[in-house]
This record gives sequence, C-alpha cells and structure tokens, in this order.
Amino acid sequence: MSTASDASFWDRSSQKYAKSPISDQAGYECTLERTRALLKPDDRVLELGCGTGTTALRLASEVESYLATDISSGMIAIAEEKRTASPIAGLAFRAATAEALASEPARFDAVLGFNYLHLVRDLPGTLRSIHTLLAPGGLFISKTACLGDMNLLIRLALPLARAIGKAPYVSVFRAPDLKQLISAAGFEILNTESHASRGKDSRPFIMARRN
Ligand SMILES: C[S@@+](CC[C@H](N)C(=O)[O-])C[C@H]1O[C@@H](n2cnc3c(N)ncnc32)[C@H](O)[C@@H]1O
Repeated sequence: MSTASDASFWDRSSQKYAKSPISDQAGYECTLERTRALLKPDDRVLELGCGTGTTALRLASEVESYLATDISSGMIAIAEEKRTASPIAGLAFRAATAEALASEPARFDAVLGFNYLHLVRDLPGTLRSIHTLLAPGGLFISKTACLGDMNLLIRLALPLARAIGKAPYVSVFRAPDLKQLISAAGFEILNTESHASRGKDSRPFIMARRN
C-alpha cells in the first residue's frame, strides 16, 4: 500500500464525498470563522487535503492567493468544476502532496489542513514538509481526527473496513501525541480549541507558528 493506492481510494470516493453533507455544520462554521480571523488580506495560503474545495471556496476571496491541493485528482476535478461555476481571483486547485510541494520554491504565509493529517503515511515527514513550505513565522492551522481518543469500536472496525476497501489508510494517535509531533517538527503551538457543537470532540483545532 502506498500514496498511489491512497490517491486511488480517494478518487473512487470523490463523487460520494462531494454529495455527503458536513457532519457538524455548526462546528465547521466555527472552524471557518476562527481560521478567517487568523488570516490576513496579503497572505499566500496553501491548503492540503482540500477535498472538493468547499473550504477553499469560502476562504479564498479574503487572502492574496490560495492554492488548494489534494492527493486525489478526482477530488480536484470536482473542486475545479465548482471554481468554474463561481470564479474567485487568486484561487487555484492542484493535485499534489505536501512532500511534492516542498521540493518546489513557493513558500506560504499560512498552511491549512482540515481532516487530513490522520490520513498521511509518514506524519513526522509531512509535518517537516509543512515546516519547509511556510515562510518564517508562518501559521499552520489544522483540525484532525485523533482516533486514539475515539470510541474503541471505531478503532476495532477500521482494520476490517480497510481490508474490504471501505476505509482509507488512517493513523491512530491521541491529541497530545499530535501536538508533540507538531512541536518536534519546529512549530510553537499557539492554541488548541474544540469546535464540535455536540458530543465529545476528538478533532482538536490546533494553531501553530513556524519557529
Ligand atoms: C476527509 S477528506 C477532508 C477534505 C476536506 N479537507 C474537508 O475537511 O472536508 C480527506 C482528504 O485528504 C486527501 N488526502 C488523503 N491523503 C492525502 C495526502 N497524503 N496528501 C494530500 N491529500 C490527502 C483525500 O484525498 C481527501 O480529499
């Protein structure tokens, strides 16, 4: 199993993902609001794991430039259709990973990753790439499912779902482990928030600054 198989899993899921409703709309609006408050009009923003571009289309008009990326070209094709229907100056979509982007010269004032970090295969390596992608002092803003803090049943069901191709590659970690990895990659954690509008929140919203 590899990033190529991850891309094809998400390609196969893209049409269904595009049609599924946001599970916690109030929590999502809170995340958008907090993110918007951290961005400045002259920021160059990179979003990783952007899916079908819902967040990019909501935030891009408020910054200088916004590059929204995803491993899945299927997801990006749907995002492009939405952008064509509602064009926004400065917004671009591209199929790419953090590792590929880090080998290019472009640097960003903010990197965003929502519902994404638990899906990468080499989390410390991806966090180092994100550090490389940011200008000094740049912000890394993320919200991530911490499966180690979730119900045991979910954790037990995952390997079975993966075995029959119904779930993607997922890393299991707890929120303190994630924060430790972000710090170890060269970030100062500025704040951690909970945005779930109901139930226990196992998806911390973490704001970090590149040292
Ligand atoms: C759960 S969806 C989240 C999409 C969007 N950020 C949101 O919050 O709705 C996860 C996305 O991450 C993408 N993804 C998975 N692994 C990735 C990787 N290694 N690099 C970039 N994107 C990845 C998938 O293709 C998918 O679009």
